[in-house]
Amino acid sequence: SMQWIKAIARDDVPEEDVIAVEAGGREIALYGVDGEVYATDNLCTHGNARLCDGFLTGHEIECPLHQGRFDVRDGRALCSPLRDNLATYPVRIEDGVVFVAL
Ligand code: FES
Repeated sequence: SMQWIKAIARDDVPEEDVIAVEAGGREIALYGVDGEVYATDNLCTHGNARLCDGFLTGHEIECPLHQGRFDVRDGRALCSPLRDNLATYPVRIEDGVVFVAL
């Protein structure tokens, strides 16, 4: 079942950028977009690359290895060479702390 895991201070999520955290033994990427925070797996579904090393434009994260792009809101793979969507996780902000449901 789902558990809310403390991830990072809200102030440490960069605006219009991505940061990786470890939460519940997993690597999670957190994105700050338009004042909202989104969470996905940090590993690309296509290969051995970390999305925290990629480039965020609006709601799209571009993988640094083959430039595949995902929508950080729903994990949808937006272009080739991606075939598989990315896992996303619900986010909750409480008392200045970001919690992720894993
Ligand atoms: Fe991410 Fe290939 S590893 S697009």
